[in-house]
Amino acid sequence: MPPIVVSLINLKGGVGKTTTTVQLAECLVSEYGKRVLVIDLDPQTNATISLIEEERWEELDDQGLTIFQLFQDKLDGTSVFDIRRAIQRGVSNLGLDGLSLLPSSIRLINVQDRMSEIPVKLGYAITPMEVLKAAIHDVPGQFDYVLIDCPPNLGFITRNGIEISDYFFIPTIPDTLSTYGIPQIVKSIEQFSRERPLLKIRCLGLVVTKFYSRSEAHVRGINNLPARFTRVFAKLGLPPAPIFKTVIPLANTFADVPLTDNKPKSFKEKYGRSRSGDRYLYQYVIDLTKEFMDHAGR
Ligand SMILES: Nc1ncnc2c1ncn2[C@@H]1O[C@H](COP(=O)(O)OP(=O)(O)OP(=O)(O)O)[C@@H](O)[C@H]1O
Ligand SMILES: [Mg+2]
Repeated sequence: MPPIVVSLINLKGGVGKTTTTVQLAECLVSEYGKRVLVIDLDPQTNATISLIEEERWEELDDQGLTIFQLFQDKLDGTSVFDIRRAIQRGVSNLGLDGLSLLPSSIRLINVQDRMSEIPVKLGYAITPMEVLKAAIHDVPGQFDYVLIDCPPNLGFITRNGIEISDYFFIPTIPDTLSTYGIPQIVKSIEQFSRERPLLKIRCLGLVVTKFYSRSEAHVRGINNLPARFTRVFAKLGLPPAPIFKTVIPLANTFADVPLTDNKPKSFKEKYGRSRSGDRYLYQYVIDLTKEFMDHAGR
C-alpha cells in the first residue's frame, strides 16, 4: 500500500509547521507504531536539525546526501544524489526505528531561484515541479505516512511537495497575520490542480497552534476561524475542510524540545514536562495525531 503523503503548508513563517511535522512524526511512530518518512523541503533545515545531530547533517551535506543535491544534480547534469543512502533511518533523540528523514540543506537557497532552469537543462523531459516525484519512485513502499515540512511559500520547491501529496495541512496561529494568507493557499493549490489534472492533493484541515488563551486577539481569532475557513472553500465551490478540535497551546516546553541534547526515555517524557490547563503537553500531541489519522486515513 502506498504511504499517505501530507505537506504542511502556511505562507506565514513561524506558525509551527516544522514543530507540528516533527511532533506528528514522532507521535505516529512512538505511540501508534507507524512507519514515517519526514521530508524536509525547507532551506532553514529546522526539521532536519530537530531529528539528527548537526555533525551528522554536515557529513551528509558534504556527501551530497541532502535534498539540495537532488535539485543541484538536475542543474549540473550530475547524479551524485542517491535517495536510498540519503534517507536516514532511526532518527530523533527518541531513537525511533520507524522514523526516517530525507534531510534538507541550507544550500537549497542556492537552487530555489534556479529551479526554472531545470527543464531547459534536461531537454524539457521534466518540469521543475516533478524532480522529487521522479526520485521518490525509487523508494519502495515501506512507509505508512510521508510528512513534508515546507518553506513558507508556494515556490517550486514547495510545488515538488504538492506534486506528490495526498493532502496539505495548515498549521496556524489564530491571529490576523498568520491566517491572512490561508485563502491564498487554498486558492493557489486549487489552481495548481486545475493546471495539472494528475494532482490528487486536497486540504486535510487546519490546526491552531501556539494558542495563548489570555490574548484577546487569539480568542477572537479562534472564534472567527470556522466561518472564515468555511467561506474560503465555499467561494471556490469546494467541500469545506475541518478545523481540528485539538488546539496546541503556546508553551515553552514545545519551543524548548528541539534544543534538548539529552536523550528522553519516552515520547511522554520528551513532550510532557509541563502542563497547560489540566493536561500534560504530550496529551495535546497525542490528540492531534489521533485526529490526523482519523482524517488522513490508516
Ligand atoms: N506550541 C508552541 N508553543 C511555544 N512555542 C512554539 C510552539 N510551537 C512552535 N513554537 C516555537 O515557535 C517557533 C516557530 O515554530 P516553527 O519553526 O515550528 O514554525 P514554522 O512555521 O516551521 O516556521 P518557518 O516558516 O520559519 O519554517 C520555534 O521557535 C518553535 O520552537
Ligand atoms: Mg519551519
